[in-house]
Amino acid sequence: MKLSLGLTSLLPILCTAIVHDNDQQAITGQQHAEQYHSNTKLSDVIAASPLLCLHRAICEIESVTDDEFAVGELLVSILEAHNFTVKTQSVPPPNSNNSTKGRFNVYAYPDVSKYSSLGASSIEGEHVTTKPKVLLSSHIDTVPPHIPYSLSLPKPESKSSRKDILISGRGTVDDKACVAVQLQTALDLLSSGGVSPSDVALLFVVGEEKRGDGMRAFSDSKLYKATNSGYKAILFGEPTEGKLAAGHKGIEMLTLKARGKAAHSGYPWLGRSANSMILPALTVLDALGDIPEAEGGLPRSDKYGKSTVNVGYMQGGVAGNVVPEYATADITFRLAGGTVSEVREIVTHAVRKVDPEGLLELEFSQGYGPVPLDADVTGFDTITVNYGTDVPNIEVKEGVKRYLYGPGSILVAHGKDEGLTVGDMEEALAGYKRLVKHALEL
Ligand SMILES: *[C@@H]1O[C@H](CO)[C@@H](O)[C@H](O)[C@H]1NC(C)=O
Ligand SMILES: *[C@@H]1O[C@H](CO)[C@@H](O)[C@H](O)[C@H]1NC(C)=O
Ligand SMILES: *[C@@H]1O[C@H](CO)[C@@H](O)[C@H](O)[C@H]1NC(C)=O
Ligand SMILES: [Zn+2]
Repeated sequence: MKLSLGLTSLLPILCTAIVHDNDQQAITGQQHAEQYHSNTKLSDVIAASPLLCLHRAICEIESVTDDEFAVGELLVSILEAHNFTVKTQSVPPPNSNNSTKGRFNVYAYPDVSKYSSLGASSIEGEHVTTKPKVLLSSHIDTVPPHIPYSLSLPKPESKSSRKDILISGRGTVDDKACVAVQLQTALDLLSSGGVSPSDVALLFVVGEEKRGDGMRAFSDSKLYKATNSGYKAILFGEPTEGKLAAGHKGIEMLTLKARGKAAHSGYPWLGRSANSMILPALTVLDALGDIPEAEGGLPRSDKYGKSTVNVGYMQGGVAGNVVPEYATADITFRLAGGTVSEVREIVTHAVRKVDPEGLLELEFSQGYGPVPLDADVTGFDTITVNYGTDVPNIEVKEGVKRYLYGPGSILVAHGKDEGLTVGDMEEALAGYKRLVKHALEL
């Protein structure tokens, strides 16, 4: 593809600021806040860094799940401008009616012929370029609502330095920090000759926050099957506070339904309350993470602690003076151990104890148990995390390492205070470079 799609208009937003020499001086060293009091100065800091400009450009484009077209287009332009070959994979949203522009995954690898002068070791033709050893992947969708990108200094400003500058807004952490850091990692390692262009590829997927449909489409694609035979490692980007995740909890979701019989609330014996049917089951399930396993509770483990339960959605009845005919609830279990089928058995057993007639309907989602990850790289702190990722949505051959790493904290990721610091971003860039080099030596 040529750089036709408005690249000339896109590039300026990446790095616009005209930084004068003495300003440059002010924003590079270990400086204090006087230099950053006005917004212009804060944005100069961003403009002076290719990584931070890239991050800002991606974050300024709204990309709530199913609306990832525009941010995908921007990434294609940036990657092509940096001499990557880009393959897009259309992932239509469910129930799409063609009125919205189609969303797509972005898979990209360095165009070997254009990078060959920069330290490529073994270039034998097109087939080499399509068999990378390391894949860096993160997601380009965000949760709603979109929150504009902004810059600020933590209080007290006088104690803040460049690395403390707070970058806030939707996606600044989850997951556009990783998109920017991974892309910049590849660019830096390529230009320094730190990796051979045929060794790395990038994958930016849609839909992680809702269904994982982007990653699953990639996993099922001919492109993946034709290119993955050389993989040594996949580096998944999610906020891990700059630590290497040794694993994450599993997840299983349940929709519970009760069908009763409507009646006048003055004559409840003429009906059957769906709310009364479902409530005991919800009470039991709500506590299922706290009950010892021996007493029918959910699995625990040393690695992840307790499984947890969230009764996240309930709906029942139509009005206060009508015996409810129908009730439903959605419950999410975060699994610290066991398999999905074991958990389904535990949950079903707990429900049937308070529903001996078997009237409640249970619909389980296609979940997964805890996901172990590789954390065998020296120099990184490790953690385990409680959230789900795209890791289980891609089939990986035996022996391929899976790393999960990224800047910022999941604790702010989906909230209104989503944000991270310049220091977080830059540490993660250094971390990713070390991870890629480690993976290439495996
Ligand atoms: C892309 O490749 C062309 C041709 O080899 C080269 O002139 C240009 O500088 C490269 N651009 C980047 C950003 O590497
Ligand atoms: C969407 O567009 C495609 C191709 O143009 C067409 O085959 C399909 O029927 C359309 N779907 C709807 C729901 O209009
Ligand atoms: C099609 O999608 C658009 C945008 O999501 C929406 O506004 C519109 O109501 C939809 N139309 C139909 C017929 O579903
Ligand atoms: Zn995420």
